Amino acid sequence: MRRSNLVASIIVSGALLWGAEAKGEATLAGTVKNAAGQPLPGLALMEIGELHGNVWGPGTLVDERGEFKIEVPKGGQYGLHVYSGGYLYHPEAVLLEEGKTVRVTVTLIPEGTRANDPIIKRLGFFPWEGNQGKTTYVKLDVADPNDDLGPQVLAFNARTGRGYALDPPRQVRNLKEDFPQGVYQLPVDTSKAPIEPKDWYFVIADHQCNTTDILSYPHQPQPPRVVRVIMGARPVSADTGRDLFQLYCTRCHYSDRTDTKTGPGLRGLFGRETLPSSNTPVSEDNVKHQIFTGSRPEVKGDRMPPFGHLPPGDIQSLLLFLRTL
Ligand code: HEC
Repeated sequence: MRRSNLVASIIVSGALLWGAEAKGEATLAGTVKNAAGQPLPGLALMEIGELHGNVWGPGTLVDERGEFKIEVPKGGQYGLHVYSGGYLYHPEAVLLEEGKTVRVTVTLIPEGTRANDPIIKRLGFFPWEGNQGKTTYVKLDVADPNDDLGPQVLAFNARTGRGYALDPPRQVRNLKEDFPQGVYQLPVDTSKAPIEPKDWYFVIADHQCNTTDILSYPHQPQPPRVVRVIMGARPVSADTGRDLFQLYCTRCHYSDRTDTKTGPGLRGLFGRETLPSSNTPVSEDNVKHQIFTGSRPEVKGDRMPPFGHLPPGDIQSLLLFLRTL
């Protein structure tokens, strides 16, 4: 992609355009694509209230053109989460206003490796005998190679348009803690109608944003594929680095402040003696290492995904930009 396109996609990304609409509900309309502009189908789920508050509400499938639309009964604060197989999931806070449509463009970043993706080992629907089949449990046996599951073990019912977080095998008090591996479950009220497995979709994202493929009927997991986004060569420069930083890093880091967003603010990074989180000396090698491998295994809670799949020139550009902060 030419640089001008990259810049354009960054500016549009996250921009909120207010449109006129019939009074009543609030609407979120979105487009999902990768950095090369290809539309990405998948799943869009909303949290009601705070982003990462883990109160799940409405959702929808994102179609082949990368488009989706979610209507909610009330305006207010929501957390939008977008998932597409092979890409890091994208969280974003959105403010919806009654009678209006908010439009978002979401650019997803491919996962460099799928080796750390959570795994859905088994899935089943089990009527609960004790309650005359009025409750059916959806059960998901979940593993995670790097053992940093979070609260996002999610189910989506396409008929009702609702998303749910499944209950973990044991209670977890702090959402930032690593969640256990094992059997997650969701009780579904089947007193009026039996469960229809075709309606159900499943996706899991861990603390490092590694995401499973979206599992749909007949619910047989396939080996995950790594996606490659082909983009034209970019010049190695601090300017390119600024664009890349916008695309990959601003979600979690300020470049003009030192306080924490999800990760530490990176203003003045190369003027420091030690790196803000690991306290290792500031050096090109140590920063490069962080970009390549993401968070060290001992980091708990919010973790940085690895960017080792970026072309060497892009990493060089990022470093040039970080030096200007
Ligand atoms: C999903 C959130 C997320 C994204 C995206 C992200 N980071 Fe981070 N980053 C973190 C977190 C959390 C930490 C603190 C924990 C740690 O050190 O791993 C961190 C730490 C760092 C550090 C300090 C490391 C240290 O040793 O103290 C640097 C430098 C850094 N990130 C650079 C980047 C760059 C450059 C990008 C974009 C290519 C990026 N990050 C993208 C979350 C993120």
